[in-house]
Amino acid sequence: MLRYLTQEDFRVLISVEMGMKNHEIVPAPLIASIAQLHHGGCYKILRDLCQHRLICYERGKGCEGYRLTNSGYDYLALKVFVTRNSITSLGNQIGVGKESDIYIVGTENEQQHVLKLQRLGRTSFRQLKNKRDYHQHRQSASWLYLSRIAAMKEFAYMKALHGRKFPVPKPIDFNRHAVVMELIDAYPLSQVRKIADPSPVYNDIMNLIVRLANCGIIHGDFNEFNLMIDDDSNITMIDFPQMVSVSHSNAEWYFNRDVKCIRDFFLRRFNYESELFPTFADIQRTDSLDVEIAASGFTKDVAEPFDLVMEEMHILHSSVAEDNNDNSHDSQNKDLSDKNKSSKQGTSDKSLNLCEEQGQKRIKEEISEPEGAADKEKW
Ligand SMILES: Nc1ncnc2c1ncn2[C@@H]1O[C@H](COP(=O)(O)OP(=O)(O)O)[C@@H](O)[C@H]1O
Ligand SMILES: [Mg+2]
Repeated sequence: MLRYLTQEDFRVLISVEMGMKNHEIVPAPLIASIAQLHHGGCYKILRDLCQHRLICYERGKGCEGYRLTNSGYDYLALKVFVTRNSITSLGNQIGVGKESDIYIVGTENEQQHVLKLQRLGRTSFRQLKNKRDYHQHRQSASWLYLSRIAAMKEFAYMKALHGRKFPVPKPIDFNRHAVVMELIDAYPLSQVRKIADPSPVYNDIMNLIVRLANCGIIHGDFNEFNLMIDDDSNITMIDFPQMVSVSHSNAEWYFNRDVKCIRDFFLRRFNYESELFPTFADIQRTDSLDVEIAASGFTKDVAEPFDLVMEEMHILHSSVAEDNNDNSHDSQNKDLSDKNKSSKQGTSDKSLNLCEEQGQKRIKEEISEPEGAADKEKW
């Protein structure tokens, strides 16, 4: 992963990223003009960047040019983290989540943190294969912005939750589609086969759902893969890009699904069943996390279009999509699925565009020309 890019290489890489705000494939002359380089010089750099797989060349209908690869986008984020001293080395990959890649990273004082790189679009767009409005090129243009908003949302929630002493990893830094956070020394609950006494763990988890809801939020993907448990049975909650507000129109459905996921898992894995479980009516609002979250950048104008896209991509409704596929859905799921179908008509393009617009605005604010005298850049 150690690569050396000259200041000019880096400038061209950033120019491709900037060009992707408005182009799925960025034409070489546009890249040269954004980078303010001569055409010939720029062409050579583009070829080198292609060889390093930071960008790739594509020829489409009536257009040819370059687009950023996952590695290219990772590189840009990593470079920022290195510049800010948030990380100094990249270690092993410890997880491939549904929508992310997870790495161990090292810091200056020999600490270990976790780097989560959002890969929105890896599975979700695949689920949309039958939807004609998400054609090939839309996908490549959108993953960049959606992944970025997902990281921003994750960081904002993690910060607000950590500030309220919720059991979540400590947020360290975020840039583009990447979040650096504390490494949790625990196992995903999904890997635990046996617990001596499941009851207190079950209670802790249910209390966590209620505590979150009292603060105004629902996890939305609260399951054994997103809960970590340590040797002392302490629970830590991870993975927040799909969190929704308790005032969301489907909030009760999400709440019940989170509760049901845990009940089903405890029954299936530990043969543990309790008559006690929280309901939506139990919620007593004591706090509004959304205010703090908006203050940390994930404002309503970004949140709403993003959540819409998440729904359209079936990330927020993934179980509905699965249920519909295997024909074993209950009536509640079916109702929601029908509701979504009708509410989705005609909104896809609008919400995605709005989402991209917001993402672009933020990228623009953040990207500045690379500075510093060093000719050779590490990374
Ligand atoms: N802070 C962390 N500390 C330790 N392991 C983590 C941490 N964050 C994620 N992981 C590991 O990576 C996996 C995927 O992470 P997650 O945030 O759930 O990604 P996804 O959104 O792709 O599901 C988790 O199940 C867990 O094993
Ligand atoms: Mg997860």
